[in-house]
Amino acid sequence: MTDRIIIKDPFDMHIHFREGEMLDLVAPLSAETFSGGIIMPNLVPPVDNIERLDNYISEIDNAVKGYNFTPFMTIFFKKYSREFLELVKGKIRAIKLYPAGATTNSDEGIKEIEDAFDTLRIMEELGIPLLVHGETHGFVMDREQEFLGIYDHLATEFPKLMIVMEHITTAAAVELLDKNDNLFATVTLQHLCITLDDVIGGLMQPHNFCKPIAKRPEDKSALLNAALSAHPKLSFGSDSAPHPIDKKESAYCSAGCFTSPFALQYLADIFESNGKLDNLQRFVSDNAMINYNLSSNNKTVTLVRGEYTIPEKYGNVVPFNSGKKLNWKIEEVS
Ligand code: DOR
Ligand code: ZN
Repeated sequence: MTDRIIIKDPFDMHIHFREGEMLDLVAPLSAETFSGGIIMPNLVPPVDNIERLDNYISEIDNAVKGYNFTPFMTIFFKKYSREFLELVKGKIRAIKLYPAGATTNSDEGIKEIEDAFDTLRIMEELGIPLLVHGETHGFVMDREQEFLGIYDHLATEFPKLMIVMEHITTAAAVELLDKNDNLFATVTLQHLCITLDDVIGGLMQPHNFCKPIAKRPEDKSALLNAALSAHPKLSFGSDSAPHPIDKKESAYCSAGCFTSPFALQYLADIFESNGKLDNLQRFVSDNAMINYNLSSNNKTVTLVRGEYTIPEKYGNVVPFNSGKKLNWKIEEVS
């Protein structure tokens, strides 16, 4: 039995850092352990112009000062001109598409997918990856499944465009990965652990509530199997999405689970209990480095066996599964 795990360059390929005080609270907590991450643009207003992007980059740089952490920036998908995309290309890693109104701060998203095609064609030519929140406006149980047809359509229509299905929640999405060369995916920590049952099956659990939620046990098993086998087109993306406690423990509970600070310890637990620790490095780093063409920050995280309890709170944010005891803790980051 191993008592030490060394992970080189862990990457979190989907994080919400927010702005202002929340950014200052949460960004260092990710920057401490991760080598880098993809930063989501769904601020209010969204990051959709160069000035806003430049300001956000310097705000993040300030918040993660002193840490060996690379923020990979994104902008919010809108119809953009070639001129704008050529200008912004060097500052971003991808563009994030939200269907209008599908989730937190997505009102300015796309109404009809066809409206996106001109911009997608330019992105394909310029080599800018597309990240997608894949939910339709259909019945809540079927939204992700219904969106798979759109993924298939986009992947066929734009064969050279890298398309990432963000935070996948269905067994069918895992299958789609093997069908289209240019489709990739991220999966969160919570989707490897819980289903709808754990959110509303008993008393309602606001801190487990995110969008979308994995619905059925067979979905969770398929996601877990894909992660545990370090499927080469799948990367870890926490979708760590902090909201202040009063926005979670309220009517109109905000969607989002806060997980990034302890994601590595938690993943070590999951991979060990399934006898797949050898695949953790690929899942949290190698796959992302290959698929997104990232360079190493030469950061190494050493985990050792030992009890670690997920804090009750970080500032005014209650994390996912607060109080849960994990079997791995961080010994050193170098
Ligand atoms: O649960 C979620 N929270 N899902 C998203 O897509 C957005 C995120 C947020 O920004 O809070
Ligand atoms: Zn997200």
